[in-house]
Amino acid sequence: MAEAVAVEFRNVSKDYGSGKVLRDFNLTVPKGQIVTIIGPSGCGKTTLLKMINRLEEPSEGKVLVEGRDIGSVDAVSLRRDIGYVIQQIGLFPHMTIEENIGIVPRLKGAGKGERREQVTKLLQLIGLSPEQYRKRYPHELSGGQQQRIGVARALASDPSIILMDEPFSALDPISRVQLQKELINLNQRLHKTIVFVTHDIDEALKIADRVILLSEGEVVQSSTPAELLAHPANEFVVEFLGPERFPKDLAPGTAHHIMIDGLSIDHQAPIEEALELLRANSAEALAVTGTWGELLGIVGIEEISQHLLHDSTLKVGAIVQSDTSSLLAHTPLSEVFEQIRNHRILPVVDDSNRLIGTVTRSSVIEALGRHLHREEHSA
Ligand SMILES: Nc1ncnc2c1ncn2[C@@H]1O[C@H](COP(=O)(O)OP(=O)(O)OP(=O)(O)O)[C@@H](O)[C@H]1O
Ligand SMILES: [Mg+2]
Repeated sequence: MAEAVAVEFRNVSKDYGSGKVLRDFNLTVPKGQIVTIIGPSGCGKTTLLKMINRLEEPSEGKVLVEGRDIGSVDAVSLRRDIGYVIQQIGLFPHMTIEENIGIVPRLKGAGKGERREQVTKLLQLIGLSPEQYRKRYPHELSGGQQQRIGVARALASDPSIILMDEPFSALDPISRVQLQKELINLNQRLHKTIVFVTHDIDEALKIADRVILLSEGEVVQSSTPAELLAHPANEFVVEFLGPERFPKDLAPGTAHHIMIDGLSIDHQAPIEEALELLRANSAEALAVTGTWGELLGIVGIEEISQHLLHDSTLKVGAIVQSDTSSLLAHTPLSEVFEQIRNHRILPVVDDSNRLIGTVTRSSVIEALGRHLHREEHSA
């Protein structure tokens, strides 16, 4: 089944008059994912976001939202269907919190009672007491609370797509981490497509299903956080993310060198999906990751088959085996060979226990094959 696409850029160029800001740009954002956009200041991140709700128009090419070319969609109604959170928050100072959150529903014709109910739900969702905050004005809230109201307002019209331009940048590190977690939790329930611009690399890696790194209006790399760290496309990626994020010892002869992608699954996935993935890869076991991409353990084909008979709706997280061995990227091959004898799969993690790949018996055999092939040809 093809993945549903929420937003697509087709050969888009943007020129504000002094040269191209985006160049023949192509990008697809799958439905229900959180995609983070990173890149140096001025590389076109905000421009890209604004083209999704027609605050900017492409100079060439097309932007499609849920399959429709938005060039032919009324800009005002498009904007009411897409949530937008900007760095400066942009709450209306003379309106109460309730009025601020209810503004789009009101424009769409929702009645007073309906709006009241919705505001109550949204305030609860973002962790602010409706009784306490409903009637306050923005200046009576802290910066972080205002930022939450900005998120609530973007959710109010129940859009399927939300654009966020550095929405947490004004927050202290603790509130920021808390809001990042809340955003992930929220999205596990609401399944919105979120395009999120940030300068904070940790934030980008932590919240994203997919990270897109831009430079001078072009995509340098578009991958999952784990892939980005395991296989940076070039030196720019390493420099931009910070060389300290990459294992220092990448010499041939380490776990990093022979690990593979794809044998991992999120703890929230149903066990049926795990079985499919195992079948597709002819594998015996998968590494299981948590909300931050951290390693939780492994699941194997036997456990899955057993549980599948009783309850096919079970989530992978419910049957994960957490007492498993893992490797660091710079673990020497000799040790990898020793350990793989006793394991179906060995997850490879970085210093923060984030999964970056896996080693299996067959990946070891393949690596040996490649090695022998090179030996033969250089002999
Ligand atoms: N309205 C405009 N008119 C002319 N040039 C513009 C306009 N808006 C943006 N630009 C230029 O387009 C380029 C990309 O700007 P954009 O705001 O998209 O960058 P950005 O990646 O969001 O940067 P930052 O990280 O600093 O927010 C910059 O060189 C900027 O000067
Ligand atoms: Mg910007």
